[in-house]
Amino acid sequence: MLTGAGVSAESGVPTFRDALTGLWAQFDPQQLATPAAFETNPKLVWDWYEYRRSLVSKVKPNAGHYAIAALEDMLPHVAVVTQNIDGLHQAAGSSDVITLHGDITRHKCFANCQGDPTMIDITTLEWDQEAGPPPCPHCGAYVRPDVVWFTERLPVDALDRANALSGKADVMLIVGTSGVVQPAAQMPYRAKRFNGAYLIDVNPEQNAHTAIVDLHLDGPSGEVLPQVIKAMRDLP
Ligand code: APR
Repeated sequence: MLTGAGVSAESGVPTFRDALTGLWAQFDPQQLATPAAFETNPKLVWDWYEYRRSLVSKVKPNAGHYAIAALEDMLPHVAVVTQNIDGLHQAAGSSDVITLHGDITRHKCFANCQGDPTMIDITTLEWDQEAGPPPCPHCGAYVRPDVVWFTERLPVDALDRANALSGKADVMLIVGTSGVVQPAAQMPYRAKRFNGAYLIDVNPEQNAHTAIVDLHLDGPSGEVLPQVIKAMRDLP
C-alpha cells in the first residue's frame, strides 16, 4: 500500500494547509515547518504542532483504514508505506506501517544527541508548557515533533525499507495520494519496473499515477476499499 492524505480525508484530518486556520491563518507553512523556523521561534512552531496534534487526537480511522488493516488477514504480507503523519493506519490495526514523513504523535531531540533519531516520550517529562517545547532530558536541546520538515531528508531506514518493499511487491494499492511529492511518488514505478507489480489506484480524482496504473478505482477510499474486501471475501 502507498497512502496519502486522501485516505484520512473521510476521518476529517485537516491537511497541512487546512490546519492554518483561525489564529494560524496569518502564517505560511514554510514559516512553520522548517528546522530554521524552529530554531528561530521554537515556541511558535511547537504550538502549531501541538494544535495539529490535538486535532489529530480527536479523529478516528475510517472504513478505508480498517479495510487496509483487514487485508493483513487475507494476504501473505501487507506493508503500508504512508505519507501521512496522523497515526490512523496504526490506530486501525495495521501492523507494518512505514511512516515516510514521520508521525505527529512522536517526538525526538532536535540535536538527536543519542543517535538519529533520539526518540523522546514527552508524557514522561515535566516542563512549563506555556514556555514552549520541553528540553531533551539527555542534552537540554529542545524536543521537536518527529515529522519531516521542508529542507530535511526523509528518515533513512523508512525510505530504504519503502524502496525495498516496493521493488518486490506483487500488487501495489495506491490510495489517496496526488502522486506528486517525491520520493513517495516513485514507489509505484519501482514496483512496476522491478517486479512487474499490478498497480491499483483508489482515488476520486485523476492523479499523477492514473496513467500508469493497471486499474483505477474511482471513488473515496472509505467506500471503495470495503467493497474490495467484500469482493475478495466472496471469491470462491
Ligand atoms: N479517498 C481517496 N482519495 C482521496 C479522497 C478520498 N476520500 N479525498 C481526496 N483524495 C485524493 C485527492 O484526489 C488527491 O489525489 O487524495 C489526494 C491527496 O493529495 P495531496 O493532498 O497532494 O496529498 P499527498 O499525496 O498525501 O501529499 C503528499 O505532500 O503536503 C505534503 O507532506 C505532505 O504528506 C504530504 C505530501
